[in-house]
Amino acid sequence: MKICVIGTGYVGLVAGTCFAESGNDVICMDVDEAKVVQLQKGKVPIYEPGLGELIRRNVVEERLSFTTDLPRAVTSSLIIFMAVGTPAGEDGSSDLSHVMAATRAIAKAMDGYKVIVNKSTVPVGTAEKIGREISSLSTFPCDVVSNPEFLKEGAAIDDFMKPARVVIGAEKARVIEIMKELYAPFLRTGARVLVMDTRSAEMTKYAANAMLASRISFMNEIANLCDHVGADVNLVRQGMGGDRRIGSSFLFPGLGYGGSCFPKDIRALVQVASENDYPLKLIKAVEEVNELQKHVLINKMVRFYSSGFAEDLDRLAFPERAGQTSRQASAGESESGLGGDGHALLLDAEKVPDLTFDSSSQELPLLSAAEIEKRYGGQSPVQGKMFAIWGLSFKPQTDDMREAPSLIIIEQLLKLRAEVQVYDPEAMEEARKIFGKRIGYARNNYEALKEADALILVTEWNEFRNPDFSKMKRLLKYPVVFDGRNQYNRHEMREQGFLYFSVGCP
Ligand SMILES: NC(=O)c1ccc[n+]([C@@H]2O[C@H](COP(=O)([O-])OP(=O)(O)OC[C@H]3O[C@@H](n4cnc5c(N)ncnc54)[C@H](O)[C@@H]3O)[C@@H](O)[C@H]2O)c1
Repeated sequence: MKICVIGTGYVGLVAGTCFAESGNDVICMDVDEAKVVQLQKGKVPIYEPGLGELIRRNVVEERLSFTTDLPRAVTSSLIIFMAVGTPAGEDGSSDLSHVMAATRAIAKAMDGYKVIVNKSTVPVGTAEKIGREISSLSTFPCDVVSNPEFLKEGAAIDDFMKPARVVIGAEKARVIEIMKELYAPFLRTGARVLVMDTRSAEMTKYAANAMLASRISFMNEIANLCDHVGADVNLVRQGMGGDRRIGSSFLFPGLGYGGSCFPKDIRALVQVASENDYPLKLIKAVEEVNELQKHVLINKMVRFYSSGFAEDLDRLAFPERAGQTSRQASAGESESGLGGDGHALLLDAEKVPDLTFDSSSQELPLLSAAEIEKRYGGQSPVQGKMFAIWGLSFKPQTDDMREAPSLIIIEQLLKLRAEVQVYDPEAMEEARKIFGKRIGYARNNYEALKEADALILVTEWNEFRNPDFSKMKRLLKYPVVFDGRNQYNRHEMREQGFLYFSVGCP
């Protein structure tokens, strides 16, 4: 079939490439000239595992091409996919300006009947709006289909090629048949095609994202409560996930969800609901919990660095400076001692400072940077300290930093006059565009640790899962780790001499 895809971002590029891979002739169109030139030269503008190879193969076999010329893309195709961005507007509602601009451009370029398939995530009623706009600008007939996309960045090719389900919002039998034929190569594993009206299809996408975001916020609240009551959320999570009615996916506590979809889609859903006089209490709370969660580690860090314990770090890591030998120290004459590799803090479990939020206090449990300064009399407990950050993208296997928790954490630390040096396997270029010279960039994860007061693990890339802990201790100024993704075993970390703090674990 002859297809064009308008909008060549994470969704459009993957969808277009996968449709080409299944034998269709695909033109990917974008208004971003630099992006199109890059693609025409064989360079992939985003990091998505497996995508580069697939693009190259289909370009060589002349099934896939890239252009900025929308009329050419439209006139040479029967099916026109739209996968342009739908960012959040100022009031949180979905900004449809790209969708409607693309719609108008398509209408003006049409030279016959077209099937217009919207893949962008849009509020209920948008397919009808697109249809009305086309009819007002073109004399040629068209059908508008809603075909929401459920791929995950980082596993996008696999998700597209082997979808769990395909949702098609369309009414006419002929159009439904075209869509089924197009998706048939991806449905061999038995995935279902769910045909419904366009309004239900549009709602399905928001409802699915809201459900997943709810699970994350739910688990983050449980983790914070675990912090208060001395329970271990890692064990609680497993205990819950074992119940088949609950299942174990999307139950990992951490630093809150980010990315290009959940935050804006949740806000858009809340906005649509309030416009329709049906305020969504639960979903609103999901977002509130998420915003607070991005501050969890900073609050733990501030508590730690304003505790007397932190002042003692030098004595604990370098007992010889206080006139003690490390032997004396490890023999128990001191509360701590040095390990063989680098500086190890050998602490009794009960000596590890408790960073639990004080639930009896009247203060907000999680403080913003301004509130932290206010509380500490204009002083920042982390001022002048250097922090290493591992992981910047909003999740592993992508270079996407949109609404990533790392953005909040880094900005907060800079506001509190700390220094930051970062490493991410794929998002360094993106980070440079955002932070410029305000932070340091390391060539690998270990380089980021040099002379750092502590490591903050923000994104759980595979390569951070099993690092060389001895090397980490040698490189860090102090063996202190704030783990925002509960990647390491807290008992092992403490046995190795790390001062280790995570989310929802005592
Ligand atoms: N990223 C995801 O994981 C994901 C998953 C499912 C659904 N979605 C939804 O898919 C849509 C696209 O998301 P994305 O992440 O691919 O966005 P993106 O920002 O990566 O890509 C959008 C592309 O559209 C182009 N564009 C904007 N206006 C245009 C126009 N008038 N004509 C042609 N091109 C135009 C932009 O230049 C950009 O390259 C959004 O609605 C999003 O919510 C995204």
